Amino acid sequence: MEKNSIIECRGVSFTYGSGTPFEVRALDSVDLDIEKGLITALIGHTGSGKSTLIQTLNALMKPDSGKVLYEGADINANKASARDVRFKVGLCFQYPEHQLFESTVYKDIAFGPKNMGLDEASVDRNVRDAAALAGLDEELFGKSPFELSGGQKRRAAIAGVMAMKPEVLILDEPSAGLDPAGRRDTFDMIRRYREGTGKTVIIVSHSMDDVAELADRIAVVRRGKIAIYGTVDEVFSHSAEMAGMGLSVPEVTRITDALRAAGVPLKHGIYTLSEAAEELIRCYRQKNGGRG
Ligand SMILES: Nc1ncnc2c1ncn2[C@@H]1O[C@H](COP(=O)(O)OP(=O)(O)O)[C@@H](O)[C@H]1O
Ligand SMILES: [Mg+2]
Repeated sequence: MEKNSIIECRGVSFTYGSGTPFEVRALDSVDLDIEKGLITALIGHTGSGKSTLIQTLNALMKPDSGKVLYEGADINANKASARDVRFKVGLCFQYPEHQLFESTVYKDIAFGPKNMGLDEASVDRNVRDAAALAGLDEELFGKSPFELSGGQKRRAAIAGVMAMKPEVLILDEPSAGLDPAGRRDTFDMIRRYREGTGKTVIIVSHSMDDVAELADRIAVVRRGKIAIYGTVDEVFSHSAEMAGMGLSVPEVTRITDALRAAGVPLKHGIYTLSEAAEELIRCYRQKNGGRG
């Protein structure tokens, strides 16, 4: 099938501290296509190069060699292209709540769209749309960001990026440090954003369980390279290779594999809790001759 890519990395390499004793080759000739309208998850160990990679996608970092293309055009072709891509590809750093700094929640969310030069009415509309997508009550608009709870702060910070209506929204470890309820809220928000806008999303994560719930595509990053890329099924079917990298399949997959080995006739390829529940109910009904 023809891929409809919005961003393409072609041989992208990046080294920190080039020519110093502290030289680190963070990206080593990365080739990657980000498909339009999908949620792509970048997964890999700490230090594998995920954060560096996403910063090359909106020209915050310029590759030492190789190219990043946005809709076929080199984003680093000139200053104007590098500036334009920042509005099309919105990047939300890890722990984005540390970057809240305005006196009110409203002003914080409005900061990005204002910077883009939108008129006041458009800024206002974008702020309200983004707050709704992020699940933030407008009653909070007049508060100081510092009066918000941890989860609300995170949502306000993400709303600030969403308010620029980027074609590609990139979130670095969006659920890091949140409790299970906060994580679920974050996922709901990402799904709402994609469903409400049809835009492309890239999330960085090191949780297989999170990625299995959310992603259409997974790219496994290892030592500055893309080790595996594909659908959730395709990537988790490489379980031996993944295990060799110290990355396991989702917890629920391990449990259903163990049940299958013990004789429960569960189908292969169960990656989420809801799939597991459905399959277990099916097996139970089958065992009871449809009377379950
Ligand atoms: N600002 C920096 N200066 C020097 N080395 C860095 C810097 N940021 C990251 N690195 C190194 O680059 C490599 C990739 O890091 P990073 O992209 O942050 O990986 P990840 O996000 O997957 O944890 C690591 O070896 C890391 O130590
Ligand atoms: Mg990182």
